[in-house]
This record gives sequence, C-alpha cells and structure tokens, in this order.
Amino acid sequence: MYGKEQNFRGYKVVVGVSGGIAAYKTVDLVSLLTKRGAEVHVVMTKAAREFIGPVTFEAISGNKVHLDVFDSPPGWHFPHLELARIADAVVIAPATAHFIGRAACGMADDLLGTMLLACQNLVFVCPAMNVAMYKHPAVQANINKLREFGYTVVEPDYGRLACGDTGPGRLAENDRIIKELENQLLFNQDLNDYTILVTAGATREPIDPVRFISNRSSGKMGFAIARAARKRGARVILVSGVLHPKPPEGVNLIEVESAQEMYDEVLKHYECVDVVIKAAAVGDYMPENVASQKIKKNGNALTLELKRNPDILLELGKRKQHQLLVGFAAETQDVEKNAKEKIFKKNLDLMVANDVTVPGAGFGTDTNVVKLIFAGGEANQLPMMTKEDLSNIILDNIRMLKKCK
Ligand code: C5P
Repeated sequence: MYGKEQNFRGYKVVVGVSGGIAAYKTVDLVSLLTKRGAEVHVVMTKAAREFIGPVTFEAISGNKVHLDVFDSPPGWHFPHLELARIADAVVIAPATAHFIGRAACGMADDLLGTMLLACQNLVFVCPAMNVAMYKHPAVQANINKLREFGYTVVEPDYGRLACGDTGPGRLAENDRIIKELENQLLFNQDLNDYTILVTAGATREPIDPVRFISNRSSGKMGFAIARAARKRGARVILVSGVLHPKPPEGVNLIEVESAQEMYDEVLKHYECVDVVIKAAAVGDYMPENVASQKIKKNGNALTLELKRNPDILLELGKRKQHQLLVGFAAETQDVEKNAKEKIFKKNLDLMVANDVTVPGAGFGTDTNVVKLIFAGGEANQLPMMTKEDLSNIILDNIRMLKKCK
C-alpha cells in the first residue's frame, strides 16, 4: 500500500520552469513531489535552459522534459493539450516577470504558455524576481490578473536575493509550495476513513492452455472508480481481471484471471473493507473440465460442458456485516426490474444498472448511462456522462449511505 508521505500518489503534476536563477531550486521541488508519489512532467521555457539543463529534470522526474510545441513524445499528437489534460495541477516555479506578463495576456508563443491556456485544472504560480521588478505596478497588475483567472499565486519569500537586494522576490520555499498543493489538491479527501474494494474487468475461464471464455468488459468503469476513490483519499484494493486500460496508481492492485481467483481474493479481503464495488463482469460459467493439452480439432462439432461459477456478490451479501455492497448490472431489457431483483437476492445497498444497448453506455466506452437503484426501491436515472464523473457520483452516494447506516 502507501503511507501518508506518499500522499501525491496517483496525481500528475506538470512543473513549468521559466528563466530565472531560482530554477535550480525547482530541481528539489520536482524531487520532493516525485518522492511523495506524484508523476511529474517538466516543461521548460527557452530561457530556463540558460540556467539549468533538461537532463537534470529528466533524471529527477524520470520523465522526458518537454521543450517545444512541435516536439511530441511518441503517441502524443499535441503535447500542449496532452499535458493540460493529464495535469491534476500545474506549478510554474520560478515564474519570471516575463512569463507572468505572457500568461496574463494569454500568450501562446511557446509550449508552457500554450499548455497553460489549455489547462482547466489547478494552477500555481510561484513568482521569483528582483524586488523592484516584483513591486512594479505592471507586474503586480499581471499577478492580479492571474488571480482573476483562478490561479493560486504562491507569494515569494522575503530575503536576500541573488542580485544582492533584500525584499520580497525570493522563490517561495518548496515546503510552502507543497503545502499549498496539498491544501488544494488533496482538499476533497472525504473518503479518508474508507477502505474500498473495487473489482474491475472481465474474468477469463480457461478451456485449455491457449483458449478461454470471456466477455467484452474493458475494465474502464472499475478503474475509473478506483482512481476516483484513491483521489478522494480512500485506501483502494483493486481486484482486476484482464488489464486493458492503464491501471490507476496508488492502489493495491491484485490481478486475477478466473472468477474463482477473483472470488478467493475478494473473500480474503472482505472482512477489513468498508465498501465493495463489484464493477467486474464476472463469467457466470466455466468449463466443467479444463483440458491440460490444447484441444485438437477434428471434423466434428465440439461440445463444451459448462458449470456455474461462484456468485461472488451473492456470497458477500450472505456474509455482510458492516460492509456496504454495490453491484453493477448490465442488462439488455427490463433494467430496473432485473436490478431490483438482484438487490434483494444479493443483499445489496446500491445497484448501478445500465442498458448496454443504449449508445454511450456499457463496455469499452469512456461514457456511461446508468440508473442508480437503492435497496429501499428509490431509483435515479442519470444522464450520459464520463465514467470519471459517474464514479464520483457513485462515491458521493456511498458516502451518504455510509453516514445513514
Ligand atoms: O451477472 P449479474 O447481473 O448477476 O451481476 C450483478 C453483479 O454481481 C455485478 O456487480 C457482478 O460483478 C456480480 N457478480 C459476481 N459474481 C458472479 C456474477 C456476478 O460477483 N459470478
């Protein structure tokens, strides 16, 4: 698992470095963020490279440093958009007078400026410059403009500057920058007290050493829930079938193949978790006999005898004590009726039901269209939304149900 000192695990931070002497301190900032588990991507302006080399940041962050709008890492078509999309937070340190002026005007004349315009998440600007420059009305007006954009300005420290002057203008101490990030990035950690077990993806039931029976589940929904729960401070155990999308970071990932393996792992952890969210598409049947050698074809049809797999959720429902149980039901008809029957049969608190035939819902998509059905019979149809947004709504409801328990 992870400790408190790893509290940025699962977060991606883009650190923008503009051309000031304080750039050397940013190396330590990147190091601290990395040690705390953040995935850090550094973007440098041309002037920043006069003070410090990209190789230093590359070695510390473990990621390629981004220098140019037209220099994409493999698979990244638009680095400025890609960086803006992945960044949970952008930290500009040091932010020079020039960069602050460019940002205040919305200039998109290099990678850092362009990325900043595309960024919709938290932005922290850490000015560092000579005292007189810092106090100049033009710089102050620009800084105020950045505040109006919603950026957090981490005020510089007071002290002796590299130029020999004394006053405000020293890049804020890294501890203060990190504290500010913690305050805002980790602010909404309302699931701090929860251990949540999430199952995701498809199980595979072996037929012989090379063949299996499986289903179309991509694991995206379960992964999105695990990621959102982790970001909200929960300890997450993710029991996942075959992995397709990139698994979330900062979670205890347990990979399984068959329904029986998933059953064993889920039951092993059941006692110590507060919530189980069963987003996995568990195979209902497995071959009665698994061939030890590859089955040879002959001219005839092949008949496979299947037997029932254990119903994991049914078993959890029978053994339920303090846990809250959330199931998923992928239906092609009578969604609400079928889901209500399953809530009753499996002793669930909440069922997330969807009609997988509806466009934008179900397997493999990045969106989902679901109805939340509660044990009391209440049903709430939600509009189409991203799996990420849906995850947070499910978690909000879990929190509410837990409080009422
Ligand atoms: O397949 P069914 O519609 O009954 O699935 C409803 C819920 O039960 C899902 O959350 C699924 O993960 C769970 N389930 C299970 N074990 C099975 C079959 C389904 O835990 N063998």
